[in-house]
Amino acid sequence: MGHHSIHSTVCAALLSLIAVDALGAPASLKAAYGFAIGAAMNSPQISQGEKALLLAQFTNLTPENCMKPKALQPTEAKFTFETSDALVSFAQQNGLKVNAHTLLWHEACPDWFFQDGGHPASRELALKRMRNHIQTVVTHFRGKVTSWDVVNEAISQTPGEYLRKTKWMSCIGEDFIAEAFRAAREADPAAELYYNDYSIEYREQREKTLRLIRYLKARNVPLDGIGIQGHWQLDQVPLTSIEEAIIAFHAEGLKVMITELDLDVVPRKITGANAGHKESAGADRYPNGLPPEMLRRQAEQYRALFELFRKHSDKISRVTFWGLHDGASWLNHWPYKRTNYPLLWGRDLQPKPALQAVLAVPPSRSLDLLPKN
Ligand code: XIL
Repeated sequence: MGHHSIHSTVCAALLSLIAVDALGAPASLKAAYGFAIGAAMNSPQISQGEKALLLAQFTNLTPENCMKPKALQPTEAKFTFETSDALVSFAQQNGLKVNAHTLLWHEACPDWFFQDGGHPASRELALKRMRNHIQTVVTHFRGKVTSWDVVNEAISQTPGEYLRKTKWMSCIGEDFIAEAFRAAREADPAAELYYNDYSIEYREQREKTLRLIRYLKARNVPLDGIGIQGHWQLDQVPLTSIEEAIIAFHAEGLKVMITELDLDVVPRKITGANAGHKESAGADRYPNGLPPEMLRRQAEQYRALFELFRKHSDKISRVTFWGLHDGASWLNHWPYKRTNYPLLWGRDLQPKPALQAVLAVPPSRSLDLLPKN
């Protein structure tokens, strides 16, 4: 068989693998890329339209809030699994994989973890509570979730400072991270264990992340992957940094994921995603829809992002959007209340130009089916 006919045979095989619409573009997001496609969700109580969209387009879901420490153990030893159990069985019934989020974070974490009477808890007490939380929660979902974001946002955003000054740090110290991963692996040897953070694509944050990765690896701590959250803003997507980060984390032998993707179109002061940050309410600039020119720019920037993801699809295992459609995005509330349009489907569940742009990114050699030369 000549080179040319091998090429066309492989192309035909490839096309038969993915559903295509009349124009030849893939008909769904999940058919279009070699990696898993996820959406964050708060509960299985969604409309029929939302459910149809979810099942047609996505392979994975991430619980947006219901598995955070505050939701699962609001007071010591009183575990509340109702919402998260409902969400997990919804996922199981519908063939979606669950990427659980998150065992340890400084936000959405009740203060009792760090208190002892009126005093700060000792290292031993805080460690015991941390291990107990992880052991109980991870055991509860064992076999039902694919992965855990074990530690979320532990790296400092302050220039020159390595780890964030949180109560986990002040009560336990730097090794709370290693201890958390060990406890999670012990409770579920099959779940993949990730470190997840925002702005770690930028050079200084990336260096800190590499330092953490190497520290953990040197101690044989079980770490399987790095989640780059991906809360970006229109006209400020740091493509070069993102590419460098994907390459650098993958070179450490880890899976790389984009875990909380959205593209904010309403100006805000803060970059990244410090969920504790609030801004004085700006104007609700686009209450009745986004100008077509901005929809076009957003589509263009989503296209550039997915071209990059396509180029590195041998390194990226999943891309998860932080919400199913514009109406379900946290960016309608954070860092101040406004009507936002950060995702691929509108609040009316109709596809936006950004979806068409993402689906139109041509398959490349990195799909791994075509000869590489
Ligand atoms: C956000 C949720 O989307 C909001 O509903 C909640 O009020 C605050 O948390 N980084 C993370 C996520 O890791 O857990 C955050 O989710 C967004 C920033």
